[in-house]
Amino acid sequence: MRRLFILLVSTIVIIDKCSSSSCKTVICPKQPGKLISCDMCHTCLDSGSRFCYTSDHKNCQCATIVPQNCGSGQLNYTFCHLLDDVLLPPPEIVVHDEHSVSAVVPRFFQEAPFDSMKPSFLYLLALFTKNGSDCTSFGEIEAYHRNQDKCLLRIRVQMPKIDYTGTENYYYDDRSPLESQFSRELFGGAQNVTFWNEVTIRRDEKLNNGSLAFATVLKSARVEYEL
Ligand SMILES: *[C@@H]1O[C@H](CO)[C@@H](O)[C@H](O)[C@H]1NC(C)=O
Ligand SMILES: *[C@@H]1O[C@H](CO)[C@@H](O)[C@H](O)[C@H]1NC(C)=O
Ligand SMILES: *[C@@H]1O[C@H](CO)[C@@H](O)[C@H](O)[C@H]1NC(C)=O
Ligand SMILES: *[C@@H]1O[C@H](CO)[C@@H](O)[C@H](O)[C@H]1NC(C)=O
Repeated sequence: MRRLFILLVSTIVIIDKCSSSSCKTVICPKQPGKLISCDMCHTCLDSGSRFCYTSDHKNCQCATIVPQNCGSGQLNYTFCHLLDDVLLPPPEIVVHDEHSVSAVVPRFFQEAPFDSMKPSFLYLLALFTKNGSDCTSFGEIEAYHRNQDKCLLRIRVQMPKIDYTGTENYYYDDRSPLESQFSRELFGGAQNVTFWNEVTIRRDEKLNNGSLAFATVLKSARVEYEL
């Protein structure tokens, strides 16, 4: 059974600052190598280095991995995991009838460059003005109160094959749209809703004596929908 999706013309996409970088501090032996200004950290990616690190927050070094002898040493170094400038695609808003609004999350995680970035914890978020709406969690929907008058809804979106939950549906990816349907009553008297997606990019570095986990949250552009 296939449903027809109607793309809304009233949808405006607002470009937002899209990532928060993940940094970890760990003690290491003094590291040799070329120093650059920390303003130049993005140039590390040009040589394939995924980390920029510093002991004084002024002079930085590029690294492809966190040196395995970190975990003990003389100097505290802060390592930041660098991501390419990637844009997480925003959800697509669809309406099937006057009682509900749906948001479809694109299957970006199966395409480059995301497929090699180990995405996890994919969420769909909806923010609106509390105006008669309950703003309470139920079922799959988590509700949070924000800035006195706002309500934020958050829904975990399972990524087929990545979030293998043990149910066969996710193992055998049926390619159906990753759609979440919201009853309009959820939004009370709000006049518009802002939707976006967030996903976590993880990177785990092995040290002789343990490991260091980096987690960066990527956010898509926000989509404003008028109710
Ligand atoms: C491993 O960790 C212990 C303490 O947790 C420390 O005493 C030891 O020096 C570390 N060894 C290496 C090789 O980092
Ligand atoms: C490194 O940081 C830890 C935690 O902040 C601190 O306890 C330790 O004294 C620092 N070591 C050095 C050598 O600065
Ligand atoms: C609140 O909702 C009512 C209808 O339920 C509407 O008339 C009113 O304009 C709304 N107020 C705001 C600030 O959105
Ligand atoms: C969204 O609705 C609120 C009132 O509910 C209004 O103040 C705000 O300007 C609207 N934003 C947009 C982008 O339409």
